Amino acid sequence: MIHKKVSVSFLSSDNIEDDLIDLCDTTADYIHVDVGDGKFVSNKFNPIRELKELQGALTKRLDVHFMVEDPKKYIDDYSELNCEYITIHCELKRDILALLEHIKSYGIKCGLAICPNTDLYYLEPFLDDIDMILIMSVVPGKGGQEFIYDSVKRISEIKKMIENRDIIISVDGGINSETAKLVKSDMVVSGSFVLNGDDLEERIELLR
Ligand code: DX5
Ligand code: ZN
Repeated sequence: MIHKKVSVSFLSSDNIEDDLIDLCDTTADYIHVDVGDGKFVSNKFNPIRELKELQGALTKRLDVHFMVEDPKKYIDDYSELNCEYITIHCELKRDILALLEHIKSYGIKCGLAICPNTDLYYLEPFLDDIDMILIMSVVPGKGGQEFIYDSVKRISEIKKMIENRDIIISVDGGINSETAKLVKSDMVVSGSFVLNGDDLEERIELLR
């Protein structure tokens, strides 16, 4: 079986510090950090303070997902943390290429996220500039939503589109042991399914 990477989101965590520390004792590949600005998504969340406080203790690298309209200053803030990926949304009415270059200028890999209702051609101009595509399988903004099944088809279309480029495909939203089986991606992001179990590691294994 292929080893699917698992990135764990703590968006719906009631105890961020403890959950983050506990996740470091699992085989999770990354910690998925959701950031919302109250504009691109209606909810506001930015765990930068907690992440900075725990910086020395966290052994997992971060996979950061900005659901924000104006990512520049967030990129600057998060560049100080141990980030593997920083992902912005392809729907932004901004100079996306400049933002991707800004992420890369910090030596951090960059990703583009795409909402369930956005045409895939939004990704096309950037295929030679990105390391990851984050396919949203829920409308972004909150954890614990139902997986949108149409995402399965979108994954295969995106795979065709990227041809042989070295781009990781990650899928975010409503991922549990059942939906993870349908998703043929390099990585899955899962929040409530992992955190709501008694044993984090057991849940993570069910996603691979
Ligand atoms: C949705 C976020 C996701 C979400 C995943 O807006 O980007 O990362 O928190 O959580 P679950 O797995 O509960 O859908
Ligand atoms: Zn996310």
